[in-house]
Amino acid sequence: MAFYSEDIIEEVRVSNDIVDVISEYIRLEKKGSNFFGLCPFHREKTPSFSVSPTKQIFNCFGCGKGGNVIQFIMNIENLDFPEAIKLLANRARITLPEDEDRETHKKNILKNKIIKINTEAARFFHNKLKDKTSQKKALLYLKERGIAPGTIVKFGIGYCSDEGDELFKYLSKAGYNEEIIVKSGLAIKSEKGGCYDRFRNRIIFPIFDVRGSVIGFGGRSIDSSGPKYLNSPESIVYNKRKNLYAMNFARTSGEKRVVVVEGYMDVISLHQNGISNAVASLGTALTVDQGRILKKYFEEVIISYDADTAGQAATVRGLDILNEIGCNVRVLLIPEGKDPDEFVNKYGGKAFQNLMEKTLSLVDYKIEILKKQHNTKTTDGKVEFFNSCAELLSKIDNRVERDMYIVKLAEEYNISRESFSQEVYKKIQPRQLIKQRPVNLKAASGNIGGKSVHDEEKIAYYERILLSLLSMDNNAYFAVKDKLENYEFTSENKEVANFAIDRLADNKGLVAAELLNFTDGELAGKFGRVMQEDCNCEDTRKAVLDIINKIELHRLDIRKQEIIKLLNSQMDEGDVEKLNQELKSIMIKTLLLKKGGEGNES
Ligand code: CTP
Ligand code: MN
Repeated sequence: MAFYSEDIIEEVRVSNDIVDVISEYIRLEKKGSNFFGLCPFHREKTPSFSVSPTKQIFNCFGCGKGGNVIQFIMNIENLDFPEAIKLLANRARITLPEDEDRETHKKNILKNKIIKINTEAARFFHNKLKDKTSQKKALLYLKERGIAPGTIVKFGIGYCSDEGDELFKYLSKAGYNEEIIVKSGLAIKSEKGGCYDRFRNRIIFPIFDVRGSVIGFGGRSIDSSGPKYLNSPESIVYNKRKNLYAMNFARTSGEKRVVVVEGYMDVISLHQNGISNAVASLGTALTVDQGRILKKYFEEVIISYDADTAGQAATVRGLDILNEIGCNVRVLLIPEGKDPDEFVNKYGGKAFQNLMEKTLSLVDYKIEILKKQHNTKTTDGKVEFFNSCAELLSKIDNRVERDMYIVKLAEEYNISRESFSQEVYKKIQPRQLIKQRPVNLKAASGNIGGKSVHDEEKIAYYERILLSLLSMDNNAYFAVKDKLENYEFTSENKEVANFAIDRLADNKGLVAAELLNFTDGELAGKFGRVMQEDCNCEDTRKAVLDIINKIELHRLDIRKQEIIKLLNSQMDEGDVEKLNQELKSIMIKTLLLKKGGEGNES
């Protein structure tokens, strides 16, 4: 749907009057401020299909279909969103920025060209290794590092000599022009004119994307001249934050777990030793994009970075990122401070696989780091260590998990479980308890037989009234602005709400039908109904305040039910105390709200 810009979509919508458009399909009759007709989406004898010229929406209270002119066209012509936009743009003689299309098309052509030139270069580099007369030292280097001939072929490893413009000449002769060679990053334009090769006297590792296309290169120096590694620059095809080295192989390994290491050499050695589910993040800390790729193909991610401080920091960052996007993460520690390449070359694949069975959880790993940072032999050190651990454990959302670590640590260091537990719970922010609410909600919903789902729906319905009212009277927004600032909309309405609130907050104006530009059919229908049936009030400002009040009361009530349930289950005394406090404040807030007071404290 992000195909066309918000502005274009709105321009198209505004340029197609809904009554005119619908009249092309069915006969409409004016009654009061609305038009009525027989619904084209279901069989009926008396009209329940209404169209509002002022709101620019339609709604059928027979079948529930509804929306603005875009959804009408999607439904009646059976088109998807972009197709409907095209039809309506055409109808209103608006030229769509198809140029954007052309731009993407041009980009794709360039991408393909660069991949082609990269493939050609990879072949060139690889063949250099076969070139007996000149490249002995490269082969010797690879041999010394324990890389077998089969591995060289599998990874397409190659070599570039120190001549300086060998590849450039080769590619030029093969028919590529200077511009594209420079764009690929393989050659650099010199100031004096002419071009020289980026890589010189280096072992070359082609970098593949998930599908196996050559998107860039890494070059390792084999004498100690220049930086250890030189890589292709970021380009239209190569984005190091979005790719993982050897992902093309690991993806088809059939394994459920993936091992993430730091470098080319680590991956290559692991694969050579039968660990075919290893990938490398290429020297950077893992990014969210990389995490998403890993999550897509694997159930568990094992990070195995160098044990040095930089590696440790990168591990923690990587773990947090992966954890945040919902990956199951573990850490593999390599003994003797070795990196995976050294370890597997010395002890073999089996030994590495054994390590893969002894990985640490994120929390265990962080505890290990804390152990190293504090001298637990001294009293002060021990106090500090436990303080940091309490801080760490207080951030675990899952109570069972949290308690398990408390028991484990208390036993390991022979301290009182109760007092350590107290320390941990003291650090849990009251806010966090509230944040845990959805978890409790889910757990409770089994018992109350779907009541919470029902509640959610009710709140979502109120929210739709609220948003619809605001779209009809933009000024009413300022009456509830403060309340909406921290309000979290239900997931169903979130996207629409974000769009609406942004508009209103920026004073950019918003009309009812526009709200529906980004909804799918079902949600559009729900909004359509609310707009036609529930939003006909005299004083919008008052109605808006009233509905917010209802939402708050409803939410408080849900939380109240939850607390009562929790209090009936087994709880720590500390928690009981907290929940009782909360219950009390809910009662007070409820009272205030019912009296129509503001109930501002939070
Ligand atoms: N890296 C880089 N530029 C550097 C150093 C490192 O791009 N100057 C990236 C490379 O992708 C490298 C990774 O960071 O593979 C990890 O670095 P390092 O552990 O130093 O390299 P290894 O791959 O282990 O190479 P080697 O074993 O040959 O030292
Ligand atoms: Mn290494």
